Amino acid sequence: MSTPPPHPEAAPASPYGTLPPASQPAARKPVSLPRIADMHARGEKISMLTAYDATFAAMADAAGVDCLLVGDSLGMVCQGLSSTVGVSLDTMRYHTDSVSRGLRRVQGTAWLIADLPFGSYQQSREQALASATVLMQAGAHMVKLEGGGWTTETVRFLVERGIPVCAHLGLTPQTVHALGGYRVQGKGDAGALLQQQAHALQDAGAAMLVLEMVPAALAAELTTALTRCATIGIGAGRGTAGQVLVLHDMLGIHLGKMPKFVRNFMADAPGVLPALQAYVRAVKDGSFPDDRRHAW
Ligand code: KIV
Repeated sequence: MSTPPPHPEAAPASPYGTLPPASQPAARKPVSLPRIADMHARGEKISMLTAYDATFAAMADAAGVDCLLVGDSLGMVCQGLSSTVGVSLDTMRYHTDSVSRGLRRVQGTAWLIADLPFGSYQQSREQALASATVLMQAGAHMVKLEGGGWTTETVRFLVERGIPVCAHLGLTPQTVHALGGYRVQGKGDAGALLQQQAHALQDAGAAMLVLEMVPAALAAELTTALTRCATIGIGAGRGTAGQVLVLHDMLGIHLGKMPKFVRNFMADAPGVLPALQAYVRAVKDGSFPDDRRHAW
């Protein structure tokens, strides 16, 4: 059996050899940092979902999801933990490796982000670099870390060393105990601090910023102000540059009470792939989220 030739657009050209494709290459060009910046500049909404395993990663890619996040939400979704605090770097490496392998199997083109888990970057910038290296070597294109203020110098340190960084403000689940629960952040006077932290993170080189559970008006204002950093909302209204949801939530794989900001895309879809495609469409055409139902 002859090996099919590599597809020219399926992966950046590499002089170091490529794996033989296991299936048909995807039609779109790989999502890259310049493409994300271009989408942001043109006002094309960026779609993002979490992914924890190879099969769902490949399906989400096939559905046209722009970015996949190996979120430490896998602590709750896959490991049965009560928060993300107990997720280890080795667990993140394992899932990043699985998702990355799933994407490669289908010559996937999604931009792959992996969460630096709690305790893997707080100690020092050097610790953050060592942890980010583990995730990048597992196949991530970018790492995400939570918080503002002290994280700014860590972001700068990583970006200067060639590691793209996504920041995360608002509800930062790794500090849920300090925040006093899963509550909306940045209301009233706290909004000014959040804005200041977001600008500092952009100046430090963060190319993306997840805004979780913050008032829609604040997220929209920040999105307009941050021209070099694409905001990705989750419970932050429709005014952000893109949206992210936890995969299992948007597929209705959830036994408890669904967070207000989630829409179950399986409710009207005949299968998982059409549900994922519906999510991408709804993000792109701005019909998800609906601020009257999914935002504060
Ligand atoms: O861990 C995660 O899945 C996340 C998203 C909810 C943004 O950080």
